[in-house]
Amino acid sequence: MSVSDDNRDSGVQSSIGAETRKVTTLRLQEMKKAGERISALTAYDFLTARLLDEAGVDMILVGDSASMVFAGNDTTLPMKMDEMLYHVRVVTKAVKRALVVADMPFMSYHKGEDEALGNAGRLMQDGMAEAVKLEGGTSICHIVERLVDAGIPVMGHVGLQPQSIHTYGTYKTRGTDEPEAKKILEAAKALEKAGAFAVIVEKVPAPLAQRISKALAIPTIGIGAGQHCDGQILVTPDMLGMNTQFHPRFVRRYAKLSETMKKAFKSFRDDVKERTFPTDAESY
Ligand code: KIV
Repeated sequence: MSVSDDNRDSGVQSSIGAETRKVTTLRLQEMKKAGERISALTAYDFLTARLLDEAGVDMILVGDSASMVFAGNDTTLPMKMDEMLYHVRVVTKAVKRALVVADMPFMSYHKGEDEALGNAGRLMQDGMAEAVKLEGGTSICHIVERLVDAGIPVMGHVGLQPQSIHTYGTYKTRGTDEPEAKKILEAAKALEKAGAFAVIVEKVPAPLAQRISKALAIPTIGIGAGQHCDGQILVTPDMLGMNTQFHPRFVRRYAKLSETMKKAFKSFRDDVKERTFPTDAESY
């Protein structure tokens, strides 16, 4: 990823416009301070990543949601390090402005600090990610500290943690009772203390996300967590309406791509059957 020296050193005073300035972890924190909302979406492939970047999305997450929306699995658990690395490489190749964050797959950071550091290092060094994301609370803070110490920016992920689906047994909203809400708030605070630069807050009641956002100096990025987070993230194929079978209330569909794509595929099929494609103009 090419970053000009001007961009690399950009601070609040930079004369470069906010629309073109490289997004860094520092920039996201400035945005929180300035009350500017952070936009984030997921990407797993080159062309989508380039479109997101050209559209001015601030942060691109190479999420392990790829396991579900790209690879068709029921959960995020089957995603392997090598598969994540492949997605991260193609995404970072496309992106010039947005901050690219790579998800650490299930079991890539649970077996000890050294292994976590090795895997995060691969995502940064081989994948060219600019930060990594880990799910978990206080129990993973020692790993966060170790990564941050090594110069690896870490984003936390609290609330619903999809890698723990078999522990929960359900994708329902987390933190609906006060003891769990308090635990999630404490987890977010501990992650900040451990050095995380931002925290994803997934599927919790809006008032809890507001409490977390007020308690932290670092930005919160919400998904299904209401309007009080410092930023919002959605899974791109969901917001594009590519999956007709998945439409929870927190997903706003900005397009109906499943319909558009199916119509195009059907038109192509019909044109081939009817011999109207290709024409002479489309031939050599
Ligand atoms: O994997 C992912 O896409 C995520 C988002 C849902 C935040 O973690």
